[in-house]
Amino acid sequence: MIPYGRQWLDEDDIRAVNEVLRSSFLTQGTKVQEFENALCQISGAKHAIAVSNGTVALYLACRVIGVGKDDIGITSAISFSASANCIVLNGATPEFIDISENDLNIDCLSLEKRLENKDLPAPKIVIPVDFAGIPANLPYIYELSKKHGFKVIEDAAHSIGSTYYFHDKWHNCGSCSHTDLAIFSFHPVKTITTGEGGAVLTNDDALANKLRVLSNHGIERDKDNFIRKDFGNWYYELQDVCFNFRITDMQCALGISQLKKLNTFKKKRQKIYKKYLKAFAGYEKKGLLKMTRYDENITDPCPHLFVIRLAEKSPVSRDELYKKLLKYDISAQVHYFPIHLQPYYMEKHGFKEGMFPVAEHYAKNCLSLPLYPLMNDEDVQAVIKAVSEIMEG
Ligand SMILES: Cc1ncc(COP(=O)(O)O)c(C=O)c1O
Repeated sequence: MIPYGRQWLDEDDIRAVNEVLRSSFLTQGTKVQEFENALCQISGAKHAIAVSNGTVALYLACRVIGVGKDDIGITSAISFSASANCIVLNGATPEFIDISENDLNIDCLSLEKRLENKDLPAPKIVIPVDFAGIPANLPYIYELSKKHGFKVIEDAAHSIGSTYYFHDKWHNCGSCSHTDLAIFSFHPVKTITTGEGGAVLTNDDALANKLRVLSNHGIERDKDNFIRKDFGNWYYELQDVCFNFRITDMQCALGISQLKKLNTFKKKRQKIYKKYLKAFAGYEKKGLLKMTRYDENITDPCPHLFVIRLAEKSPVSRDELYKKLLKYDISAQVHYFPIHLQPYYMEKHGFKEGMFPVAEHYAKNCLSLPLYPLMNDEDVQAVIKAVSEIMEG
């Protein structure tokens, strides 16, 4: 079976994890800091706080900003549910914005229209998602945040290694050049993996300190500032309460080793993406399907997903294509069912079908084809052949 995504581990990765297994510290050792330093280096962000997964990274990012009961948080209608759950889990009210047809990211004009509506309260945060690895328009959203007084958390779960061009400079996703905070996920289908894992990134020293405390129960060990330092190094204080969101040293050793291959992974992902674009261009020209193209002058993405959108004229529906591909031993995937149409969001927050038409239409017709660096040319050609045979009946 060719899955839609999977990790690539080599002997270096296995050796790195083995070394930790033979060492004294399985957790709270030196590998965590080493991994965080490597994340700062590849993203350009000043601080990285590695945590147990991308979902808690989003939760912490909202919490550290102080998102709470009377606040509103806005995200894209098409993303993994964690992009919105983090708003709800902090007690705030979620709102969604429709996606753009072009890049499937949050539609900036709709966002701006929502922000300009004087009848609606201003949000505390906006969470743009770099969907499929294509950067959202972060500089534009950051400008809006200055005007309307909200904070920006980039959900970069799909976009480690992606860059965008702005004001004569290339910026990395996760760099926080145009956001207050960003998060990564290191789930095995993502570009680099730690099994489970995530990170919060920021350029703000105070936010970084708070994130470290919150990711570790709320424990403060600021030896220089405590009045009871005469007690000794064991002393700590709780100024806040939170969960244990720590990542282990085994995971971080894997992450350090994986990050060394980020550029190779990116090149392989781009190559497969371009092969699909070329192979299916004829169907696109005939109006049977749509693909997401990107402008190389303004972005150099590390593609996470390759999504096709079946058009009305397509000889097969999305669900038919999905089932037929399984017969070729190809397991495609849907990214995503719109978050606002999940039962929880409809029942508890009153969202209804028809509220975000572009997202809803997209979600009925999208399918992610296999895309991961371990795919060899034979695998890619097998996917192209299967899709072609199905499209041609
Ligand atoms: C866009 C997006 N945000 C957040 C997450 C959450 O990451 P994790 O699975 O590491 O909790 C995911 C994971 O699938 C995701 O795709």
